[in-house]
Amino acid sequence: MELRSLIRLVPDFPKPGILFRDMTPLLQDPTGFRVAIEQLAAGTTGMGSLDYIVGIESRGFILGAALAQHLGLGFVPVRKPGKLPPPVLSQRYSLEYGEDELQLRAHALRPGERVLIVDDLIATGGTAAATAELVAQTGAEVGGFAFLIELAFLPGCKALPAGIPTHVLMVEE
Ligand code: PRP
Ligand code: ADE
Repeated sequence: MELRSLIRLVPDFPKPGILFRDMTPLLQDPTGFRVAIEQLAAGTTGMGSLDYIVGIESRGFILGAALAQHLGLGFVPVRKPGKLPPPVLSQRYSLEYGEDELQLRAHALRPGERVLIVDDLIATGGTAAATAELVAQTGAEVGGFAFLIELAFLPGCKALPAGIPTHVLMVEE
């Protein structure tokens, strides 16, 4: 199954010069969605034992929740500001097209627990790196990262903490 054919390329969205990768056709295709989750799950072998999937709002919720169910793990959301009730931990970050902040429920993770951070796409890597910082604030450990798409012409995975396994299904040159 060629997952790439299920990603729609949209020029100049949400801003001029951005080639947006729209994963909604993949989600709409039951086989494509299933294969993507199976391939993301296969990438976790070698990451050691994992306690939770941490999914990043909002597209990371869709993939992360499905992957958590597939792996029999719980799901922990990392959200845009003002969405989670207090107490929360916060971290600011830069986007390919803007700046934002992410939050994690303060007591969602405990020291020593191991998580897999999941998102649909890694561009500058700012979002995933900020999520790793949030996990680190709790004393939990990032056991791995998983993405559907990496934009290899941006810093992406190089912006992530060194030495942590990263699994990507589609690398866009
Ligand atoms: C997109 C994407 C990643 C992030 C990647 O999310 O889903 O989370 O950008 O960019 P980066 O690697 O440069 O940080 P966006 O903030 O657009 O939110 P959305 O998922 O709610 O659309
Ligand atoms: N998030 C950051 N850059 C993106 C892109 N080019 N397509 C889809 N989501 C993105």
